[in-house]
Amino acid sequence: MMGARAMETTRELESTSIKYQIGGHAEKMWQRLKGILRCLVKQLEKGDINVVDLKKNIEYAASVLEAVYIDETRKLLDTEDELSDIQSDSVPLEVRDWLASTFTREMGIVKRRPEEKPKFRSIVHAVQAGIFVERMYRRTSSMVGLAYPAEVIVTFKIPVPNLISFAEALEVGYSKYKNPYHNLIHAADVTQTVHYIMIHTGIMHWLTELEILAMIFAAAVHDYEHTGTTNNFHIQTRSDVAILYNDRSVLENHHVSAAYRLMQEEEMNILANLTKDDWRELRSLVIEMVLSTDMSGHFQQIKTMRHTLQQTEGVDKAKAMSLILHAADISHPAKSWELHYRWTMALMEEFFRQGDKEAALGLQFSPLCDRKSTLVAQSQIGFIDFIVEPTFSLLTDSMEKIVMPLIEEASKSESPAFGTPSQNSLGAVSNAEAQRRPSFKSTSDGGTHTENSLATVDLMSFKDNLMKIIQANKERWKELAVEEELVKNVGEQEKDQGRNSTDAQLQEETTRTQNESSQGSDGTTCPPRSIVLQVVSFDTPLSDESNSEKCTNSDPNQKDLTDAQQETQNTDPLNGEPKHCKKTEDKVKSTEQKEALIQN
Ligand code: CMP
Ligand code: MG
Ligand code: ZN
Repeated sequence: MMGARAMETTRELESTSIKYQIGGHAEKMWQRLKGILRCLVKQLEKGDINVVDLKKNIEYAASVLEAVYIDETRKLLDTEDELSDIQSDSVPLEVRDWLASTFTREMGIVKRRPEEKPKFRSIVHAVQAGIFVERMYRRTSSMVGLAYPAEVIVTFKIPVPNLISFAEALEVGYSKYKNPYHNLIHAADVTQTVHYIMIHTGIMHWLTELEILAMIFAAAVHDYEHTGTTNNFHIQTRSDVAILYNDRSVLENHHVSAAYRLMQEEEMNILANLTKDDWRELRSLVIEMVLSTDMSGHFQQIKTMRHTLQQTEGVDKAKAMSLILHAADISHPAKSWELHYRWTMALMEEFFRQGDKEAALGLQFSPLCDRKSTLVAQSQIGFIDFIVEPTFSLLTDSMEKIVMPLIEEASKSESPAFGTPSQNSLGAVSNAEAQRRPSFKSTSDGGTHTENSLATVDLMSFKDNLMKIIQANKERWKELAVEEELVKNVGEQEKDQGRNSTDAQLQEETTRTQNESSQGSDGTTCPPRSIVLQVVSFDTPLSDESNSEKCTNSDPNQKDLTDAQQETQNTDPLNGEPKHCKKTEDKVKSTEQKEALIQN
């Protein structure tokens, strides 16, 4: 009876997808859902499914389908209204979404209705649908012997609707101040980088499920409701948060506190199913990690960790996790030049906006905040030399100290896993240890192979690639620093010249009144303006390496952090615009053009 109904639904779906002729991406989603429904039908035919579960799943599928449909329709309409010159065939859906939300928000073409949420529902729906597909896959695959381990199934304790509401609220908070840098892309970037580090260093095998959750959660909330201004600015202006947190890690305290406040609402409480102990353990880790992203604690953090590495005892978990988050937070110099350059310019623009506020308030410029005199390239060389390199070198050393013994242990015991639980270096086994994520799955030939297992970890190449990229980026900044220096000199000369000509004009005036036959100044040495504009260009052409390919393709074997950014890679972190890979389009000829680019 129900099987027949499900069949009908499947057929209806088939005709619907043809009828509406929706885009390729959505078409795929429809196809996948159809597949799921077919599986359901099969299960029903075999009488192999619990009716309560079935009902829930069908209701859930219906809500997902409805949501996807509404979203698709809305997006098509929005696109037609606001971005009529963008052809739906040629522009990927995600990019269209980005463009639509960017123009709506920044250019004010379409005013958002007060009750309307920001346009990230498609992401939420993708997650929703993904989870649904995953759930159904698990059920159906368990019938044919591709079972996920039972622990994995029972471990997923986060209620999906709560996760969606929470993620939406995070997106709203990250968009609150419309920051060029500290926005939701930065949050997504850091979260993905943390995930990447955990997998590629093998550190995930040292962490419990709860600790992995804490890492991801901390990364996602670590800059929540960032104001686009620094702690120092809050302190100087005696802002409410500075008063609230007594000038101590003002922003970082706010990020954690405000994120936890969200979860006080029942429908956003993603941690509702955690035991009291797990909840407290997670909270303590998250607080420690996010507070450690306060840059004012950087040198102390590095020193303490270096000291720990020299000792024979194990590494403190919270400290190691804090280092991972801190490294991910400053990781863009370890990514491809184009990403690094864009993130840097976004951050500089955020700093400069603070400088504008400081000027308006009659305050002194904070470092790097004066848009007229900041030496960007120079500051980046310093940042890489003194902050980024030591941090990543410490990160890889720490990972080595922690992970190498695990690899040895696993290879000696020839455990199928290179992934079975083992005690951590501190010897502590927490509550959640028992729920550690096994990292192996069976193969049809009866053997086991591991996915992201310790056996695949190659710390050496992880480190080498990372350092190579950081060095290459530094070299690029060095080239630009030469130009920057030239521009500075030319600017000073111009100023002098201006002064000279003013003096000369005064002199001329005086002489003229004294002697009608006087001559003006000769006005030499100032180069034509066009030369200055060329010199001022920061954006050197993209090199002929594989950069242009990196814009669209990712090499799965690449061990640098660049491929941790597939989602953000094709959009401009400054404004969500699609990032073009052509050299000519990326060239910026003048300061004016660069500023226009940032403002757009
Ligand atoms: P936040 O993301 O809150 O934490 C790390 C901080 O490092 C970041 O804010 C910036 O203040 C700083 N930072 C990151 N990248 C750079 C960079 N390229 N140059 C200077 N400061 C940076
Ligand atoms: Mg921060
Ligand atoms: Zn950050």
